[in-house]
Amino acid sequence: MKLISIVGARPNFMKIAPFIHSINEYNKLITQNSEFIIHKLVHTGQHYDDRMSKAFFEELNIPAADINLGIGSGTHAEQVGNTMIAFEKVLIKEKPDWIIVVGDVNATLACSVTAKKLHIKVCHIEAGLRSGDEKMPEEINRLVTDRLSDLLLTPDKFSIENLKKEGTPDNKIEFVGNIMIDTLEANKDKSSKLKISNIIYSNLLIGNSYKIRDASLDFNNHHNPNLPPLGGLEGGDYALMTMHRPSNVDTKEVLVPLFSFLTDEVAKDMPLLWAIHPRSQKMLKEFGLWGKAMQTENLILLHPLGYHEMLRLNMDAKIMLTDSGGLQEECCVLGTPCLTLRWNTERPITLRKHGGASVLVGNNVEKIRKEYLDTINFQRSPLRPELWDGKTAVRCLQSILNYNN
Ligand code: UD1
Repeated sequence: MKLISIVGARPNFMKIAPFIHSINEYNKLITQNSEFIIHKLVHTGQHYDDRMSKAFFEELNIPAADINLGIGSGTHAEQVGNTMIAFEKVLIKEKPDWIIVVGDVNATLACSVTAKKLHIKVCHIEAGLRSGDEKMPEEINRLVTDRLSDLLLTPDKFSIENLKKEGTPDNKIEFVGNIMIDTLEANKDKSSKLKISNIIYSNLLIGNSYKIRDASLDFNNHHNPNLPPLGGLEGGDYALMTMHRPSNVDTKEVLVPLFSFLTDEVAKDMPLLWAIHPRSQKMLKEFGLWGKAMQTENLILLHPLGYHEMLRLNMDAKIMLTDSGGLQEECCVLGTPCLTLRWNTERPITLRKHGGASVLVGNNVEKIRKEYLDTINFQRSPLRPELWDGKTAVRCLQSILNYNN
């Protein structure tokens, strides 16, 4: 059997890593009655910075991509169109039995459409998530990919219900659990050994004024003697944040008040560690906010973090503010109180009302402030939804091997 898996952007790497490891394990135990799996990895190249891509391959032991399509950035049509043109050539040459797509990025959509038109079977890992918001590019990607996929591997009960409501036949749907949690389980021990202050000093953005309140930490491992010590952070007295959705960062009317809340309120309460996505950095500069971002005391701007680094910071953070889907899920399992900077989520299982750690706060400052003031007093409350057990990748592979529709 020949499989081609596809990755394109950062959130794909932690989903594909355990799947590839499960193929390797399977091939090691091959018997006379089982078939060797030939696997190739295609990277569309949507994310290309070392910190957004290469670092994850190294950290998560993902073999180098067999084929890189080198698509890079562009409009949605450019990314999807260029990926389809390049991927079609790969499929014609390689003739796989299946392609495996994960998540909801542009690569997921482009590659599933291309394969389907060549009558190659498509398996979607993380199928059935729906935000109900068709203004989100990821929702379009999810809808199209799920409609075309031959095998839909779902992470939770909500995603199964969504697919059934849309009329997906039962025999295409398999409940396998959340593959991201395989990666979390495999890496949490390593992450827990990292020192928070080391993570911060090795990821600080150049130019930040680094003024941090309560300089009491005995920080003895930094290279620049002019950097002040970091106060209180090893004890988890900090807020952690990521934000990159176009709906939050692409318009001035939304980003300016959000940014003021972060600098004038959150950073006044505690150090705010913001691992800043290239899109957000670009928009802060465009809207003239970058200077203030660099100068605000207690606002610690960091490069996009490695997987272990982000997991380590998440393990101890007092509160998370994020619009990332993956971090909502990781907060759920770690129990980190989380403000989800969105009006909807395709991952309702992570919400407090379903036992998780997150609450939807959108991007309206009144609403965010109210929930923030409640949430900073919350204790950690971990939740492990059904089959978020670190063994999802093996179930994904079994579903493909057992497929006989
Ligand atoms: C993409 C995914 C989103 C995912 C996110 C995680 C889609 C539709 N969106 O959004 O679902 O949550 O990745 O990061 O697929 N850029 C760099 N370096 C890089 C990558 C991007 O500088 O390595 C810049 C690009 O030039 C572009 C901006 O960041 O200006 C946005 O990149 P893009 O790939 O268009 O979408 P993301 O916002 O990253």
